[in-house]
Amino acid sequence: MRVLVTGGAGFIGSAFVRLMLGEDRATRLVNLDKLTYAGNLENLTPVEADPRYRFVQGDICDTQLVLELLREEKPDAVVHFAAESHVDRSILGPGAFVETNVKGTFSLLEAARAVALPRFLHVSTDEVYGSIEEPHDADENYPLRASSPYSASKAASDLLALSYWTTFKLPVMVTRASNNYGPYQFPEKLIPLMISNALEGKPLPIYGDGMQVRDWLYVDDHCRAILAVLERGTPGEIYNVGGSRALPNREVVEKILDAVGQPHSLMTTVADRPGHDRRYAITTEKLERTTGWQARMPFEEGLAQTIAWYRSNPEWVARVRSGEYQSYYASNYGKRA
Ligand code: NAD
Ligand code: TYD
Repeated sequence: MRVLVTGGAGFIGSAFVRLMLGEDRATRLVNLDKLTYAGNLENLTPVEADPRYRFVQGDICDTQLVLELLREEKPDAVVHFAAESHVDRSILGPGAFVETNVKGTFSLLEAARAVALPRFLHVSTDEVYGSIEEPHDADENYPLRASSPYSASKAASDLLALSYWTTFKLPVMVTRASNNYGPYQFPEKLIPLMISNALEGKPLPIYGDGMQVRDWLYVDDHCRAILAVLERGTPGEIYNVGGSRALPNREVVEKILDAVGQPHSLMTTVADRPGHDRRYAITTEKLERTTGWQARMPFEEGLAQTIAWYRSNPEWVARVRSGEYQSYYASNYGKRA
């Protein structure tokens, strides 16, 4: 398969690139990435010399560039990861989220339509369903009730992508995954932020009462689900991807502190996130039934491997946490204490 990946220098995109090339699932893999603060070519060191691999620095909003790449590379599929991906940043500044997530997806869809691309997989999130009351779990027909500018921009791009199937018969598929964790995740999201703060003995900021629930999915399980949908999914369909491991944030953070050998007293309650979704919960039955996919990684094992990775990659963490990260941290956490 010849694949064009967008956002392949980010956390999940780079795991997907390493998986596709590491397991010989792609004969050609082109990675289009703008290299924002979240894009990091160090995540791709294992594949950079691979003759099947090509990196192109560019913006998905640049339809002309995308069109030229599609004409030149003639991929069988586009797998679209590129996005602004962090809820707190969408609260500090929603504009970039509308630009990349909505307009960027539109630009890609237009280019894909122009070349009659055989497959377009849009990588989305369970956050488009908004907060879900117990005891319900969202299936793919659950109403969209996005709460943050991030999730609203993803919901908008999901609907736009699906409309290209309904209207133009561009073979679009959408995956909606729950919270990912694993190596190479930028330490703005809960798990890598708490691991890196715990390893340095710094306070661990818990938003509100810390009883918000997230369903944790190991990043490689997510990438295998995307591959399964790419190979066996049906155009026009949506597939939830969950880890089937729902936990309150406080419990996740306590597990991290225990594993790192730091006291629970490092947890510090800070002001809650505005519009904070209380609970995410999805069913993954459709994906399992139609593709045979199953999550493989138990949470405790995945967490232990992730902590081990952050422990053994202090240079990666230090580089990522220098510069822009410092000003982000000050603006997001400075006023919360
Ligand atoms: P990330 O923030 O780690 O990486 C995003 C990547 O996209 C970066 O490499 C960045 O440089 C690139 N990018 C951003 N704007 C771009 C643009 N305009 N043009 C080209 N490249 C651009 O994100 P992630 O956590 O790897 O998430 C990847 C995708 O998966 C996103 O679409 C996200 O919404 C979705 N998702 C994430 C999670 C999660 O838990 N992280 C869960 C479900 C779905
Ligand atoms: P996050 O990793 O930002 O993912 P999302 O908001 O997209 O689910 O946050 C996961 C949960 O952790 C969410 O309920 C917010 C909470 N959280 C904190 O309590 N403190 C933090 O510093 C961060 C980043 C998140």
